[in-house]
Amino acid sequence: MGTFAPLLYPTIGGNIIVRAAASDDAAAVLAAAKLAFATSDHTLTKFDEFSMTLEQERTFIADLSAHPRQVMAIASYEKNPSGEVLGIAVLKQNTTRRKLRHSVDLGMSVIGPARGQGVGTALLDALVRWATAQPDLQMITLAVYAANTAGLKLYRNLGFVEYGRLPNGLIHDDGTAWEQVQMYRALRMQMCKVKTPPKQRECAPEGSLLQK
Ligand SMILES: CC(C)(COP(=O)(O)OP(=O)(O)OC[C@H]1O[C@@H](n2cnc3c(N)ncnc32)[C@H](O)[C@@H]1OP(=O)(O)O)[C@@H](O)C(=O)NCCC(=O)NCCS
Repeated sequence: MGTFAPLLYPTIGGNIIVRAAASDDAAAVLAAAKLAFATSDHTLTKFDEFSMTLEQERTFIADLSAHPRQVMAIASYEKNPSGEVLGIAVLKQNTTRRKLRHSVDLGMSVIGPARGQGVGTALLDALVRWATAQPDLQMITLAVYAANTAGLKLYRNLGFVEYGRLPNGLIHDDGTAWEQVQMYRALRMQMCKVKTPPKQRECAPEGSLLQK
């Protein structure tokens, strides 16, 4: 299930609680998403194209929390746990195809005033812990602007590894093209050696590569 017990993290701005979002958080999550989109060029969603209604947000959160391989984490100050949402991080599967069920995509944003204080680190740590505890999940994937210094640092700190770069992956309204970095974080992934048919794929225990 897309839920977990609340976690406490120290940050520069004070202690924060990171917890799984519930549908009653929809209004605060919407407000935080709008604030994050309005204050960054590094989100995929532009502020003016974010049109989710309160009811849609409620349903979105309810669906995530009922799903075995999806979750939304939110952060707020310990002193005001049901108050302002400082950041949102979502692990989501964009497909129901069985071959891809071991993998979830990460999307996250911290509101402008709370950035650079450790909120993103706390949110991502909580999600990596959650994902690692899900037996069906083996990896988290993401795509980030190559120009997003904070994002790249955060992801590398939390064990994400770059596996590709997409030149011109994003094109802004003003015509400027931006490179995207693709990263993944193995959870307890077995290192697999792909064999050509008719042999079966073989997998070695975590941490060891199969030798021919
Ligand atoms: C990217 C983002 C999620 C990071 O969250 P955050 O709370 O600001 O990050 P943290 O404070 O936990 O810092 C994470 C790391 O990045 C570094 N960092 C933070 N802000 C930075 C900045 N402006 N420049 C360089 N490094 C920065 C921190 O020093 C830290 O590394 P360290 O622990 O090794 O020192 C957040 O800045 C954000 O929401 N940005 C706008 C939207 C966005 O880019 N979303 C991600 C889309 S893929």
